[in-house]
Amino acid sequence: MAKPSLVSGIQPSGRLHLGNYLGALKNFVELQNSDKYQCYFFIADLHSLTEPFDPKEKSKQILELAADYLAAGLDQKKSTIFLQSAIPSHSELARILENLAPMGELNRMTQFKEKSKTQPGNVNAGLFTYPTLMAADVLLYNAEFVPVGDDQDQHLELTRTLARKFNAKFGKTFIEPQPLHTSAPRVMSLGNPEKKMSKSQPATCLFLDDSPEEIKAKVMRAVTDSGSEVTYDEKRKPAVSNLLMMYASLTGEPTVKIEKKFADKNYSQFKTSLAETIANHFADYRKKKRELTTKSYVLKTILKSGSKKAAKIANKKITEVKEKIGIAI
Ligand code: TYM
Repeated sequence: MAKPSLVSGIQPSGRLHLGNYLGALKNFVELQNSDKYQCYFFIADLHSLTEPFDPKEKSKQILELAADYLAAGLDQKKSTIFLQSAIPSHSELARILENLAPMGELNRMTQFKEKSKTQPGNVNAGLFTYPTLMAADVLLYNAEFVPVGDDQDQHLELTRTLARKFNAKFGKTFIEPQPLHTSAPRVMSLGNPEKKMSKSQPATCLFLDDSPEEIKAKVMRAVTDSGSEVTYDEKRKPAVSNLLMMYASLTGEPTVKIEKKFADKNYSQFKTSLAETIANHFADYRKKKRELTTKSYVLKTILKSGSKKAAKIANKKITEVKEKIGIAI
């Protein structure tokens, strides 16, 4: 029997952080290695054009993300790794789905509202229709599952709505996909446990390729809560709980076990151990990423061959869609 498909992507817009890893990329690798799915992982370059960017940097960011994927453990022999813009069907299907997407729903999207605030001088139409392109990314590959952080849930809800609407109007064409979350679907900032970790605040964000010294300095400066016990309590101890969640996700140990380990230790001892855990976890990744970054030819070849494979599936779907809506003549 054919394996169920899953698809996900990340925007190439700079260095990845621990939120991207614990919410998404770590899961990509585990799902790939479980051997239970047909996996498609792409570089969402078209999505990244909705934010201000420097064309000289964009191709570097694309290759850097390809290096990130491989350094973290994605393997082009097990997963199809590709570049979104190399496959025109993504844009074509997005344009078709836009006709089913109510303006009101797009207007309610949290990410659109937040980005409109952070880039008030550039509230562009691409930002507004972002979720329809994301729906196309997923629906083209008949994906049943989409591994993402929980900030993407609203977009996936719309993806399901669009699939349902299309199917009802034009006949069964799309699968309604489900999000797959990790045990750390929302990693919070080191400086404020009410805010998501984000690269726009580099001092309170742990980048995967931060040096062990940078990791230590950032973790030791992380805000904590009142009291001194290392206990998981999201309401009373949101900051410590966020740090404990990182520790648990990286070590695979349940939080109760970690609490016991630090029962007679203070915050500073816990943070020292967390910083070491993070630095060690990414030692191999840092080394591989450094090596891969010098091999742009290899990275380009992997993306080209992945894009060729993905295009076969995507083109089949877009042809079916065009037939269903009556524009294939
Ligand atoms: P992007 O590039 O913003 O983020 C990549 C992935 O990282 C997750 N993430 C987090 N998870 C936990 N805690 C955090 N603080 C945190 N910050 C980011 C995101 O949820 C995401 O899974 N729209 C997507 C890219 C995309 C996509 C798609 C994903 C485009 N098309 C189709 C899946 C399917 C995005 O902006 O991710």
